[in-house]
Amino acid sequence: MKSISVIGSGTMGNGIAHVFAQHGFQVSLVDIQATQLEKALSTISKNMDRQVAKGSLTEEDKSAALAGISTFTDMQEGVKNAELVVEAATENLDLKLEIFKKLDQFAPASAILATNTSSISITKIAAVTQKPAQVIGMHFMNPVPVMKLVEVIRGYATSNEVTEQIMELSRNLSKEPVEVNDYPGFVANRILMPMINEAIYSLFEGVAGVAEIDTVMKLGMAHPMGPLQLADFIGLDVCLSILKVLHDGFGNPKYAPCPLLVNMVTAGYKGVKTGEGFYQYT
Ligand code: CAA
Repeated sequence: MKSISVIGSGTMGNGIAHVFAQHGFQVSLVDIQATQLEKALSTISKNMDRQVAKGSLTEEDKSAALAGISTFTDMQEGVKNAELVVEAATENLDLKLEIFKKLDQFAPASAILATNTSSISITKIAAVTQKPAQVIGMHFMNPVPVMKLVEVIRGYATSNEVTEQIMELSRNLSKEPVEVNDYPGFVANRILMPMINEAIYSLFEGVAGVAEIDTVMKLGMAHPMGPLQLADFIGLDVCLSILKVLHDGFGNPKYAPCPLLVNMVTAGYKGVKTGEGFYQYT
C-alpha cells in the first residue's frame, strides 16, 4: 500500500496522518473545514520538530513527510485513489454511518475501510457498506506518534485477509498491533474506562482528592499519568460516551458512569480541550 486517506484532522486524525507520512505513505487528509486542515499541518510540523530535536527524525525526512501530505475539503476527491481509508472523525454513530456510506461509494472498490473509533461497533459501521469484509477497526492511541499500540478490531464479517493486511501495515508503521474482536469497548477501553470511572467515584465519595488519587496511581502503579489527568487528556465527554457504550452494550450496572462525570460534562467541563476538567489548563 502507498496511498492512504485519513478522514478528520483533529487530534487523532493529524497524529495518524503524521505517522503514515513519516513512514513514506502518500497521505490525503480530509476535513470539512479548511482552517482545521491548516491547523493540523502546523501541529504535525511542530510534533515532527520534537522528533527532529531528539534525533529520531532528520530535517530531510520531515520535509519529505510533510510534502507527502495533501489536504482536501471534498471527500470524494480525497479518497478517489485510496488503497486504505482511516476514518478519525468525531465519535458520533450517525456521523460515522454517513461517512462510511459515502466512503463505500467514493473510494475504489478494493479499498480497505478502517475506523479509529474508540468504542462504536465495527459490525454496525460495516453493515451500512456493500463490503463489510473490508471494514475493520484500526484504533490508535493518543499521542499517536508516541504510543506503540494499534488495537486491530475485527468486525463480525471482517475477512482474515484484510485483518492480516492491517496487522502487517501497523508493523510497517513501527507499531505493535493487537487483534481483538468486536464487543463493547473492545479491550483497551473495556479495561481503561472502568478504572477511570472508579477513580472518579473515589473522588465523588470523598476517599481522596484529585492530586492524591493521581499520585497513588502514578507512583504506586507506574502509570505515566494518573487516571483523572488521563481522563482530562482523553476528554471527559469521550470518557462518558464510552462508558455509556459499555453500560448499554453489556447491560451491567458496573459500567454506570459516575454522577460526577455526568455533571461535569453537562456543565461543559470536558478536560484539556475546554481548559478545565479535574485540573485547570489556562
Ligand atoms: N508527537 C510527537 N512526539 C510527542 C508527542 C506528539 N504528539 N507528544 C509527546 N511527544 C514526545 C515528547 O517529545 C517526548 O519525547 P522525549 O521523551 O524523547 O523527549 C515524549 O513524547 C514524552 O513527552 P513529554 O516529555 O512532553 O511529556 P511526558 O513525559 O509527560 O509524556 C505522554 C507525555 C507521552 C503523553 C505520557 O504522559 C503518557 O504516555 N501518557 C499516557 C498516554 C495514554 O495513556 N494514552 C492513551 C490514551 S487512551 C486513547 O488514546 C484511546 C481511547 O480510545 C480513549
